[in-house]
Amino acid sequence: MAKPETDRAMLDSGTPGMTKGLTHYGDPGFSLFLRKAFIKGAGFTDSALARPVIGITNTGSAYNPCHGNAPQLIEAVKRGVMLAGGLPMDFPTISIHESFSQPNSMFLRNLMSMDTEELLRAQPMDAVVLIGGCDKTVPAQLMGAASAGLPAVQLITGSMLTGSHRGERVGACTDCRRYWGRFRAQEIDQHELAEVNTQLVASVGTCSVMGTASTMACIAEALGMTVPGGASPPAVTADRMRIAEQSGALAVGMARQGLTIDKVLTEKAFENAMRVLLAIGGSSNGIVHLTAIAGRMGFQMDLQALDRMGRETPVLLDLKPSGQHYMEDFHHAGGMATLLRELKPLLHLDAMTVTGRTLGQEIEAAGPGFKQQVVRPMSQPIYPQGGIAVLRGNLAPGGAIIKQSAANPVLMEHEGRAVVFENLQDLAERIDSPDLDVNADDILVLKHIGPKGAAMPEAGYLPIPKKLALAGCKDMVRISDGRMSGTAFGTIVLHITPESAIGGPLAYVQNGDRIRLSVARRELSLLVSQAELDQRQASQPATPPSAQRGYLKLFLQSVTQADQGADFDFLMPPMTAVIPRNP
Ligand code: FES
Repeated sequence: MAKPETDRAMLDSGTPGMTKGLTHYGDPGFSLFLRKAFIKGAGFTDSALARPVIGITNTGSAYNPCHGNAPQLIEAVKRGVMLAGGLPMDFPTISIHESFSQPNSMFLRNLMSMDTEELLRAQPMDAVVLIGGCDKTVPAQLMGAASAGLPAVQLITGSMLTGSHRGERVGACTDCRRYWGRFRAQEIDQHELAEVNTQLVASVGTCSVMGTASTMACIAEALGMTVPGGASPPAVTADRMRIAEQSGALAVGMARQGLTIDKVLTEKAFENAMRVLLAIGGSSNGIVHLTAIAGRMGFQMDLQALDRMGRETPVLLDLKPSGQHYMEDFHHAGGMATLLRELKPLLHLDAMTVTGRTLGQEIEAAGPGFKQQVVRPMSQPIYPQGGIAVLRGNLAPGGAIIKQSAANPVLMEHEGRAVVFENLQDLAERIDSPDLDVNADDILVLKHIGPKGAAMPEAGYLPIPKKLALAGCKDMVRISDGRMSGTAFGTIVLHITPESAIGGPLAYVQNGDRIRLSVARRELSLLVSQAELDQRQASQPATPPSAQRGYLKLFLQSVTQADQGADFDFLMPPMTAVIPRNP
């Protein structure tokens, strides 16, 4: 029997399009018949339905100002898709914003990745444009898309504009923390605090410094997953809308060529992304997310090798919190092309990108550089080594990290007395107590904020105890099994693995113990004998947390440690390679 006109046109388009992934009724013909009937109910013509179908994830939400430009982006992506001969189909997925997620956004990252993966699988599309921006959204989308296996383009929402407070340029959220610190130290009053609060986020878009969102935008471009230049345009600019249009057009080409995500997310691409993470002074969260994305492709991140890579990769990008500038300055300085051009000797230039050309070809296509102040040459780095160092020792047998480029050089070689907080509540109750026994050269220790302990909140940036803040103390060594915001700064050791909630050595640190931090030697040691630690463990063994029902139960049963990306174990395929291979 001759095929109906529409079916023949669909097949002639060279992509499965609307015929893909039919609903199971036991009769494929009927499934397609029904699907077409419904979609025609929305007014589509046969010729529209015969085109390559490009999904567009709509992560706009009233709760997510970082994605406040999603409607305009979707419109621009659709224009690009249609100009290239495709059919755009936008659909909603979970959206996550840092300040509107309880207990924290990391708890929801894996859920968003599952949502993204399953909708990419379930709905007919030949390629997808992933619109993400706020911290956890881009990693969640790349994790989900990596597992789904389609051709995929990452579209970043873009950074917010900077504001101005009493003549000083400000932007979220490094300046949020700085002003809050000044308020706690009684350097500014409630009135000024309220005034600056209206200026810190001057438009929709993601945080304007090199926080996690900006880090993941740069990583996405370094992975080859965005349109060239796609990391840096601010959210409200014409450049951002042009990137959106190009993303849509590109997705149609990828669908036609069958340029699936596994051809882009290769070992070389991840090694390039690691270089970029180090060279931008990127968020420490970038390591966890990159580990999780790589894990979805079957690549195990070797933190020791990453550390070795860091020793030969200087920080070149002069952005807060490691430097001075903001994302819009980076964009005006040429964005990622300027950075990648400088990093060329350390990159795999033959890594494939979503354009179908290699990273090296795209760097060439971006043209020559120009004089600018934001990306330093290799000969004059902001910081001589990579932004992040990996520590080991009896306190962190599975590793810990410190963002050395945003730490106090004096404190990076330090031994001090432990002042221990058992959990977040204990911290909240005692940190500002006038009776807290603490001195500026002590080491603040916070337990139970690891993946299972509390879904890794960004609480590793412990506040300076009030009485020390009032006395002028700006930084102390602070250690935990949690994370910190990429916009934060200070001498802060994070991601201690294994975490305290599952009985890692951190669980057995007591007030008054001596701890030694040596970033030069990459050491984090608890100066307590193993016999004493064994005795403490035997007298109070850890009981990992559990839950009765729901997503929390799934989370606590399945979340892995930080060195595996805190992904769910059942979402990770068997590991086939260790990266980086040749640091
Ligand atoms: Fe969304 Fe910072 S809160 S990027």
